[in-house]
Amino acid sequence: NLPRGLRQLKLPPDKQANLNKQAQLQFQLRNRTSKIKLDRKSLNFTPTCDVMVREAVSAITRAQNQGCKQRIVNVTCLSQQGLLYPERVQSLCPHSPGFTGKPINLGCFKDDKTLRALSGYYHVFKGNNTPERCAYMCLQSGFPYAGTEYSMECFCGMEEPLQTKRLPDSSCNMKCSGNPKKTCGGYLTINIYWTGIQKFKAQEARNSSLKSEPEQPVQIAYLLTVNGRASRQVKRLISILYHPSHLFYIHVDARQDYLYREMLELEKSCKLNNIKVARGEGLRLASIWGGASLLTTFLKSAQQMLAYHQHWDFLVNLSESDFPLKSNNQLTEFLSWNKGMNFAKSHGREVQRFISKQGLDKTFVECEARMWRIGDRKLPDGIQIDGGSDWFALSRDFVEYVADPNPDQLVANLLKLFKYTLLPAESFFHTVLRNSRFCNTYIDNNLHMTNWKRKLGCKCQYKAVVDWCGCSPNDFKLEDFNRLRNTVDRNIFFARKFEPVIDHRIIDRVEEWLYPERMNKSAKSKGLDMYWQSLYHQADLSPLPDDGLLTLSYSLARLVYRKLNMDHKNVRLLENTAYFHENRFVGILILAESKKEFSDISVPSNGRARRVEALISLRHNFSTSKLWSGKIRSLSVSTDYDQKEQTFRNLIGSMGPYSAPVLAYEFDAGITMPQNISVLWIDPFGRLADVNYLLLEEMTLVGHVKPQLNEQLAIGTWRLLLITDAQLMAKLRFLVIPLSYWKAKKIELDKAKEIIDGPSIVYHITEEMNKSWSKIVKAAIANEPIKYSQNKIGENLDDWLDRLVYEHYGISGICDADDETRFESTLQKCLDTIWSSLSPDSKADTRNLCQNY
Ligand code: UDX
Repeated sequence: NLPRGLRQLKLPPDKQANLNKQAQLQFQLRNRTSKIKLDRKSLNFTPTCDVMVREAVSAITRAQNQGCKQRIVNVTCLSQQGLLYPERVQSLCPHSPGFTGKPINLGCFKDDKTLRALSGYYHVFKGNNTPERCAYMCLQSGFPYAGTEYSMECFCGMEEPLQTKRLPDSSCNMKCSGNPKKTCGGYLTINIYWTGIQKFKAQEARNSSLKSEPEQPVQIAYLLTVNGRASRQVKRLISILYHPSHLFYIHVDARQDYLYREMLELEKSCKLNNIKVARGEGLRLASIWGGASLLTTFLKSAQQMLAYHQHWDFLVNLSESDFPLKSNNQLTEFLSWNKGMNFAKSHGREVQRFISKQGLDKTFVECEARMWRIGDRKLPDGIQIDGGSDWFALSRDFVEYVADPNPDQLVANLLKLFKYTLLPAESFFHTVLRNSRFCNTYIDNNLHMTNWKRKLGCKCQYKAVVDWCGCSPNDFKLEDFNRLRNTVDRNIFFARKFEPVIDHRIIDRVEEWLYPERMNKSAKSKGLDMYWQSLYHQADLSPLPDDGLLTLSYSLARLVYRKLNMDHKNVRLLENTAYFHENRFVGILILAESKKEFSDISVPSNGRARRVEALISLRHNFSTSKLWSGKIRSLSVSTDYDQKEQTFRNLIGSMGPYSAPVLAYEFDAGITMPQNISVLWIDPFGRLADVNYLLLEEMTLVGHVKPQLNEQLAIGTWRLLLITDAQLMAKLRFLVIPLSYWKAKKIELDKAKEIIDGPSIVYHITEEMNKSWSKIVKAAIANEPIKYSQNKIGENLDDWLDRLVYEHYGISGICDADDETRFESTLQKCLDTIWSSLSPDSKADTRNLCQNY
């Protein structure tokens, strides 16, 4: 089961032993040996070596299936033997042209070719630069040319660049002088690229006879790597970028079949054939966050894109959460001026620091949709490691080079390295660019603005998929519009991240700014201040729908048909959609049909629709004491709390016995602080289950708290009391439902019984705690009878469930979703109902996208 390409590295045992003694020794020095031995009995294969590294032992133990365990063992063994990576990789970047260690005078108004040849990353090093010269060079080699950008970094340190310390330009001289042993050097990055106006002025100044416009507008190939369920946002993104001369290649994460189906529809509707969806084995991958598969996805997609007969000059990659900040024409013009250049953003820190922050000095193995960390590694000598953002605009030449199925030695070696690298797309392309013949085409700008808020975005939110703490940018909100608009004079063409479920008005605002006429037109049609996002579709196989959501949705569908006085026993749930209006979540939409009547066409409809959509909202579930009224902005219990965006992803609060509820709160800044608050969790039988303590201070007005409850929650209505100074501040109710679906199938009776009976409930609450809170608990729930919490199974399960659900959720509207021509109905048609997912949504309407040209 060795990964392909690794086998050939195996040498005869004696030679291997000799050759790799050194490497093995170094490996052992770098890695901590595990005290815990690998449990060989838990493996159904014989490991090829004695796994010694602590991290690898941990990964093998945690992995679930034998295939994954074996893969981790194999890679670890190769790594231990020094066979996994090349020791040295030869850089192919010709030394920077004309660089002699002297200050460079680049001069003004050189011709294009000379200037372009000078663009690049200069590494000035080794003893022939005195500290004075270095400082002089860094500070004085001005480049007074309007159409360029340049940045310089000065380093002082030991000979190897990796050991140098980054210094501000001005202190370079100071720090190095007086220490003759240190070498002074510098990196000088010169980015020579053009904006249309600057180039025009330069040409005027040269009195050139060249035209003021690029000869041929470039064609762009967009590679969209998308994930999740925001299909309407992806359609909106494609609509705003669309031009018949561009190519759109869409890769949908292999696990997301709803989005995939939606994109296939889009592809089908575009008769111009320039929207393509990645399909088939090997081309559609489960591209986990930070995974090695993201690089494979990129390279495989690039190969496909090169194979299309449609020509393109630049590959621009985007995700579902990107949005443009300039018009299509502006981007095309800019790239046309800069044909052949490669736009990628570098980290801008000291290299060694970047390497360790990014985990580039660790080996990772991807399997079971997870990146397992298996130990430290040494990066090959002979090349410069670089990295930064994984959003690019790459020239066709470079893409042809880097994605060549028969790569040269440099790319082949780097592929070996990046196959076992976390977030490989953030370093692979940069490193190839720096060390290949394309080194002089590297422009340190990814054309993107990224909304980094590291305090929120670096909370290890991907622990479930990577053995590492990664960071993610935040979503833009309406209040960020000025920041976005201020990029108007800069070479920034896109921003990330945008998520309509977090804020859809900022997307409207940006679109209106870029294309006022387009938005005016949409404003006239419906759906402008609304957003719909699918939560469930009956055809979904992957990812498996959540059992809590499915159970709740089916129950709601029954309640809807009951309200219509129609058969509710044979209801089929078709879709479940989250509905937002004026930037706020309003409720969920249940699209369902009554199976019995629907299948029997001969039965007259009695003027009722068989297929309906209903708007469901959560009933008001919290109350505050008079003293606190208006001081609590929000209080809610749900699951899937997103710490980065400080909001629940489980919008409707569907929770079953295996859910892990969280309380999220937001207090008004006007309250007296500090404030000690106790949070009491009371189960449906009126028993105290846990107590949390909050200390509210200025910085902690928004937050969340996780109770320590049992693995299996009691079914029924839970209550939460917020207490301060022995007084009740607020009371909140939330529902834990019994499951009528298990692993997305109707639950078997035995399983239902097992869930409902559950283990005997023992909370970790002490006698004393119970005593001290009992009065307050009793008083708070005195008027609320404990009902519906008795065990019900079999025939009654659905009725019991529906009663519980009815208590917590309300039906705010029902519309007729039937085919117009089929039945007469007393309900309003969904097509004409503004909240309905079937009503027009011009922002995401791509039906005529390609026909409009
Ligand atoms: C970003 C940047 O991409 C990265 O440079 C930075 O270091 C971390 O933050 P982030 O915003 O966290 O990534 O991730 P996201 O945009 O959600 O995902 C990155 C790409 O991977 C997207 O194209 C997304 O569609 C894809 N992806 C993510 C999947 O295909 N499947 C997943 O399960 C997750």
